[in-house]
Amino acid sequence: MSDRPTPRRTSGIRSVVRIFPDLEDDLLINLFHKAAKMQWTSRDLDWGQALQMTPRQNQALARMLTPVYLGEQTAMAGAANILPQMMEAGESTAQIYLASFIMDEARHFEALTRLYRKLEYHPMGLRELPEMLRYHHRLRTGDRVDWVWGILISDLFAKLFYQWFADAQREGLFGRMSAKILVDESRHQAFAEHYLRRNVPKLEAARRQALVEMRDELFRIMRAMEDRLRADCGALNFDGNAFLDRLWGELEYFSKRIGLTNGGPPGDRPDDTPPERPDEQPQAPQPRTTLHLAGLSLPRCFGCLLTMICHPRPALA
Ligand SMILES: [Fe+2]
Ligand SMILES: [Fe+2]
Repeated sequence: MSDRPTPRRTSGIRSVVRIFPDLEDDLLINLFHKAAKMQWTSRDLDWGQALQMTPRQNQALARMLTPVYLGEQTAMAGAANILPQMMEAGESTAQIYLASFIMDEARHFEALTRLYRKLEYHPMGLRELPEMLRYHHRLRTGDRVDWVWGILISDLFAKLFYQWFADAQREGLFGRMSAKILVDESRHQAFAEHYLRRNVPKLEAARRQALVEMRDELFRIMRAMEDRLRADCGALNFDGNAFLDRLWGELEYFSKRIGLTNGGPPGDRPDDTPPERPDEQPQAPQPRTTLHLAGLSLPRCFGCLLTMICHPRPALA
């Protein structure tokens, strides 16, 4: 078999698939090695340990966890879709890192599935929390820079969520699980920041502005979800407003770190405030077999939703 590079034509530009790529010893390779050495699974947790919550609090956690749980699944599946795009673009260290990211998200997904069994409650249905569909539809729009930006935003949400439980339930089963997940999430955050700091400054101003708008839209959707989950937050003494304020602070901080300037130099945006809470009120469940949101006909179950979310998207030009 010949080991000569295979010439290909992509977007009118002659490119070569590298069988033996240069692998720089960069941050992404270091993150890959860290991840490979810090493996754990749900079997490392003590499932005989009490949840230290009332039945109402178990239900509240099951409901509040729903968007995070779906996020773990879509991050895993979305990364599997993005990885070949990174390969094609010659981003060798990013593709190797992403393989460890997929394993991390699979671990979180599996551990949370087991937690749901322990809680004896299911995640909320898509009809009960339709904002999840809007959120994940928005995440799948765009190229791999958009995807990494969406992952960073979602990871910041997840980090603050897990951090709260790791602190509040230090001796409880979910608190301990949260502390383990947080270690993984810190690597994801480091990856996303590194990748975006390298790529965002190369984008045209209109593309950078679109990333700012994407952030604001995702934040609005998060606020709508928080509105809908307010009673559950109350059951766990989880201050949803304070949570979103902290999240907005993190989003602003990372926006500036990666070179998003909100239409001007960092910090000079005249309306540098969190997007307003949407006016929409919680919707009563609709007696339909299919949800219609954002021009999409969406299936009811998570599996079908994931298939839709992970449909291949165009590669970065
Ligand atoms: Fe995760
Ligand atoms: Fe993550």
